[in-house]
Amino acid sequence: MDIRFSQYSNGLQGKVAVVTGAGRGIGRAIAIGLAANGAKVLLVSRTLSQLKETRELVRQTGGEGVCHVADLSCEADCRTVPEAAREHFGRLDLLVNNAGIGIYSPLEEATASDWDTSFALNARGAFFLCRECLPMLRSSGAGFIVNISSVTGVKGYERQAVYSASKHALMGMTKALAREVQKDNIRVHALCPGGVDTEMVAQARPDLDRSILIKPEEIADAVLFLVTRRGHAVIDQLDIRRAIGTPWG
Ligand SMILES: NC(=O)c1ccc[n+]([C@@H]2O[C@H](COP(=O)([O-])OP(=O)(O)OC[C@H]3O[C@@H](n4cnc5c(N)ncnc54)[C@H](OP(=O)(O)O)[C@@H]3O)[C@@H](O)[C@H]2O)c1
Repeated sequence: MDIRFSQYSNGLQGKVAVVTGAGRGIGRAIAIGLAANGAKVLLVSRTLSQLKETRELVRQTGGEGVCHVADLSCEADCRTVPEAAREHFGRLDLLVNNAGIGIYSPLEEATASDWDTSFALNARGAFFLCRECLPMLRSSGAGFIVNISSVTGVKGYERQAVYSASKHALMGMTKALAREVQKDNIRVHALCPGGVDTEMVAQARPDLDRSILIKPEEIADAVLFLVTRRGHAVIDQLDIRRAIGTPWG
């Protein structure tokens, strides 16, 4: 894996991040990018072997990662995440809610299970994690939450009604939470990418030419941009589209 990240002068030394879905794809790139800029990272997903691969890549940047297996559609597992951050690192400054699944079909063919499975992770899992991590993020004094939504969190596409609904739910929670925790100096962002070159897209759209997709490292760079700035300006939401897509489309 050939990954090059921007190095930010106001880096993340001394900071601790939780990255969910860190076993592959966008989450892996975000975890490596944060570590490359000095953060210690708790790597969360259900598959330990993939988390260990990410941890090795984190180590290659000179950074530190700890694997934590959890099914984030399960409330009890979500509770273990801040506990693990406290146990291993003693603090928490950044929460990146990246874990997500895409179940695609025409709306008429979608099942109750498709709906429940999508919402259980994409919306409810992020809700649980935000709720459980808030006390530690408050203690940080300058916390960040970055929710990886999607272009489908602000638009609708054929065959993506259920996925899109779950990402719209995530967006609603993000907006409300940002106001609730402003007083605690916690900044809450949403990233809304178009198609990214990951396993999720390879499985859902095997017809797509992967060379025209956004690279996971480019999403990681956007996250780094958000969490390495603490000035008078805030960017609430970043829309990231494929360069060949319609500008402002
Ligand atoms: N790829 C795109 O085009 C694209 C575009 C816009 C937004 N996004 C969003 O970006 C995020 C990452 O997508 P990706 O493309 O990188 O997907 P991916 O390659 O399928 O990776 C998803 C990650 O989430 C983890 N995960 C899945 N279910 C989980 C669960 N129940 N509990 C804990 N972890 C779980 C997976 O590991 P395990 O299965 O081992 O748990 C994996 O590490 C998602 O929220 C997705 O909606 C993706």
